[in-house]
Amino acid sequence: MSNDPLLQPFQLKHLTLRNRIIVTSHEPAYPEDGMPKGRYRAYTVERARGGVALTMTAGSAAVSRDSPPVFNNLLAYKDEIVPWIREMSDSVHEEGAAIMIQLTHLGRRTRWDKGDWLPILAPSHHREAAHRAFPKKIEDWDIERIIRDFADAAERMKAGGMDGVELEAYGHLIDQFVSPLTNELDEPYGGSLDNRMRFCFDVLKAIRKRVGDDFILGVRYTADECLPGGTGKTEGLEISRRLKESGLIDYLNVIRGHIDTDPGLTDVIPIQGMASAPHLDFAGEVRAVTNFPTFHAAKIQDVATARHAIAAGKVDMIGMTRAHMADPHIVRKIIDKREDDIRPCVGANYCLDRIYQGGLAFCIHNPATGREETMPHKIAKAPQRKKVVIVGAGPAGLEAARVAAERGHEVVVFEAANDPGGQVRLTAQSERRREMIGIIDWRMSQCEKCGVVFHFNTWADAKTVLGETPDVVIVATGGMAHTEVLSKGNELVVSSWDIISGDVKPGANVLVYDDAGDHAGLQAAEIIAKAGGKVEIMTPDRSFAPEVMAMNLVPYMRSLQKLDATFTVTYRLEAAERNGNQIVAHLGSDYGDISRQRVVDQIVINHGTIPLDDLYFDLKPGSKNLGEISHDALLSGAPQTIERNPQGRYQLFRIGDAVAARNTHAAIYDGLRLAKDL
Ligand SMILES: Cc1cc2nc3c(=O)[nH]c(=O)nc-3n(C[C@H](O)[C@H](O)[C@H](O)COP(=O)(O)O)c2cc1C
Ligand code: SF4
Repeated sequence: MSNDPLLQPFQLKHLTLRNRIIVTSHEPAYPEDGMPKGRYRAYTVERARGGVALTMTAGSAAVSRDSPPVFNNLLAYKDEIVPWIREMSDSVHEEGAAIMIQLTHLGRRTRWDKGDWLPILAPSHHREAAHRAFPKKIEDWDIERIIRDFADAAERMKAGGMDGVELEAYGHLIDQFVSPLTNELDEPYGGSLDNRMRFCFDVLKAIRKRVGDDFILGVRYTADECLPGGTGKTEGLEISRRLKESGLIDYLNVIRGHIDTDPGLTDVIPIQGMASAPHLDFAGEVRAVTNFPTFHAAKIQDVATARHAIAAGKVDMIGMTRAHMADPHIVRKIIDKREDDIRPCVGANYCLDRIYQGGLAFCIHNPATGREETMPHKIAKAPQRKKVVIVGAGPAGLEAARVAAERGHEVVVFEAANDPGGQVRLTAQSERRREMIGIIDWRMSQCEKCGVVFHFNTWADAKTVLGETPDVVIVATGGMAHTEVLSKGNELVVSSWDIISGDVKPGANVLVYDDAGDHAGLQAAEIIAKAGGKVEIMTPDRSFAPEVMAMNLVPYMRSLQKLDATFTVTYRLEAAERNGNQIVAHLGSDYGDISRQRVVDQIVINHGTIPLDDLYFDLKPGSKNLGEISHDALLSGAPQTIERNPQGRYQLFRIGDAVAARNTHAAIYDGLRLAKDL
């Protein structure tokens, strides 16, 4: 038996957990009609198959109808959920993992205009900044009803074969009772700590009574809100002790911080560029004080840190949640001594940010996550070996190369630059986005293991490509920054990529015109502001940087606000004119006939990229399919068989930004879904 601390079993009451790694509760927003159907099940089972000890499914399944599913949460208040839960728990158990589910009432952390349009409620009228909905102040009959709802939901989960339930307290109704900041009730549920914890204990007692002792029960709660007037550390440790001493629960799942604002949430769940494992020592303090099974997760993205967490006795079970979205087979790879094959979580937080926009949680560089029914995490061998030539070693080209090589094909990649990575390498030049290079480094090491041949510093033209006598050519040449959007003065502007790459020095008084709304605009603005420039970020849209999304915006704002950058929405840059050593920016608006000016010394435009597609069009006439891709085959997972040109000698495909400017996830998804059927 291995002596790796991570691979030691843990006895949680009657439940033997096979190792120390868990996936903590998270709502990937995969439910269909509020039920965990095929996509949800396949996603969960893949992590169990990958070796995790316990998968805590569902983020905060709703126990009551007035806890509307703001992240497309599971509806645990419906009886019809039981067979769906049963299918999922049976499938996970077959893989040798334990499975639990998190239950909640969201309280004010939701919106009344979701679900049944019932008023939302909380122990005060204060709204939560993140969801903006004003709650009703909870009444005695609401409290009785919700306690009953929790017990009913727990009973459904037990009937569905779950090993236990966890209460989502932090930021949700239970901790809204506990925190003095959100509880303005009188006795018996408001005032002293005894009173503020009463609701939590009433819920736990009702559940215990209903499910009995042979069912795991835990609480995920904040032991320090890190907010003036909120639950502080001293009270948090007292709460931890009381939870243990109640004898009602089997473990503590420790959170530090508050989630009522985007910045608060981002400190609880840190993203790339932020410190790793920032709350691990704190969780260790809770464990030391309580001497009780303690779970914790917050940016423990690599195996070494997870191992330290267990070996140093900080916690009993360590959560690697987003790490498992990036790679569901982490434990299997640890067991097989293949840790260097683990696809790293790069903290891009594309997964979590998307659910706040109403989307499904997808991993920026693992497009099979959440698509397990159609996309493989393990690539199958092709029936016949082919010669595949790929032009471009950005994210799309490298993914196609990795997958084609794992299929067993002979793969050659040409890249014009010195190094692989394309736009990802550029974006990773900012300190905050440095982890992004993991997307490229992992693919390069996988490609090297599979024998892919790379030619860097090589501008491949049609002759170079055809000299390889390929069966398949994939053009993944990416795009060039697109700045020609003005009616006059296009020659006076530079692109956000010029600033990020360092090719152009930042100006002193700069207008950053950002109508792509992605990272590049804010990155360029930050570089300029840090170099001492005065920056105005302008967009014709109604909000700025929509593609950056909520949690990713936090570090930018923390930096840009300090540097006094300003933001202007709903103005369109129409033209630029030179005036001495200054540039006059002429502005209009889509909202009406209005004109304004700015006088600056530099205009930076962020307007996506324009495809570099010359090679594709040069190769098109000689190809069998004349570049055509069958969407039916692509979407149904069948090989591409279009033949439009009897004289053609190779199949030709184009992927990523060489087709149209999109994002990293789209580029990698293009690469995977084309190459997996070659
Ligand atoms: C898509 C997504 C949804 C989440 N939803 C929940 C949730 O409903 N309840 C919860 O307690 N935590 C939720 N989390 C937080 C995770 O459980 C975990 O605490 C967090 O991701 C930090 O751990 P990690 O760095 O290992 O990912 C969510 C995380 C993600 C990525
Ligand atoms: S999107 Fe980013 S943070 Fe989320 S799992 Fe993937 S790599 Fe990790």
